[in-house]
Amino acid sequence: TKKKITVIGSINMDIVTSTNILPKMGETVLGKAFHTIPGGKGANQAVAAARLGADVSIIGCVGRDTFGKELKQHLNNQGIDVQNVEPVTETSTGTATITVFDGDNSIIVVPGANYHVTPVYIERLEKIIAESDVVLLQLEIPIETVEKAVEIASKHNATIILNPAPIQLLSKELLSKIDYITPNEHEQEMLLTSSDWTDEERKEIIKKCIVTKGSKGVSILKRNELQIPSFNVDVVDTTGAGDTFNGALAYCLSIGYELEEACHFANAAAALSVTKFGAQGGMPTLQEVEEFLQLRGEKRK
Ligand code: RIB
Ligand code: NA
Repeated sequence: TKKKITVIGSINMDIVTSTNILPKMGETVLGKAFHTIPGGKGANQAVAAARLGADVSIIGCVGRDTFGKELKQHLNNQGIDVQNVEPVTETSTGTATITVFDGDNSIIVVPGANYHVTPVYIERLEKIIAESDVVLLQLEIPIETVEKAVEIASKHNATIILNPAPIQLLSKELLSKIDYITPNEHEQEMLLTSSDWTDEERKEIIKKCIVTKGSKGVSILKRNELQIPSFNVDVVDTTGAGDTFNGALAYCLSIGYELEEACHFANAAAALSVTKFGAQGGMPTLQEVEEFLQLRGEKRK
């Protein structure tokens, strides 16, 4: 049977302004373009896996507003199971206000409905988690929810991937139950230095780390920091590159790829994603990744 990936995480509307000039505080400038497009690390990672053909469901919350309606419909259109995307009345749909400047971006996230993804909500969905082969999480929902979800997923022996973004303090208990953790360089540093780990504990975390380094590729720490290089492409927008990597990694691990191979494939998916505008724009299908790898002189799997 087809392997199941469950993403437990955020669903945002991205409010994107592209500009050639960055204003200082108190300054006004003229920008280039404005778009509202689907985003949120949870949703992005779900879409990345779904484009590759994975069987994906997402657990999350949106507001009972137009953004919420649009986003749930959009995820459904991507072939993702959205039965457990609950509209909540108390607050608005999560938003990310993004400035795209010179191919790079800065983001302010307002979680809104994403913070209504509570431990109680997750507990009610134990059956969905129990049926999952891979459970993929990020940190745009409450940390207690991530802890509860990981507890349930580990009880049912799912492969658990945590993308620790945006980074915050993580408990030893949480980290002990996770199989793979995928920080970027900044998050890795915060993860390993900002708290009271013993050497032993730090070693345990390092064993699980796959560090994403943008155009430098990724590094598998437990393999003596084995570097898996990225691909050179024309960058339009790096928003969602990490999400594409994570979604593709989940897909590869669900179908039994070895870790190194999985990172290589996920690098290719992420490279393709940055060639188009928007977090989800450019996320490739399986065929697109295969063609890209072939073009770059790789043998077909
Ligand atoms: O990782 C990119 C995502 O971060 C954006 O889509 C935005 O919604 C923020 O959550
Ligand atoms: Na993109």
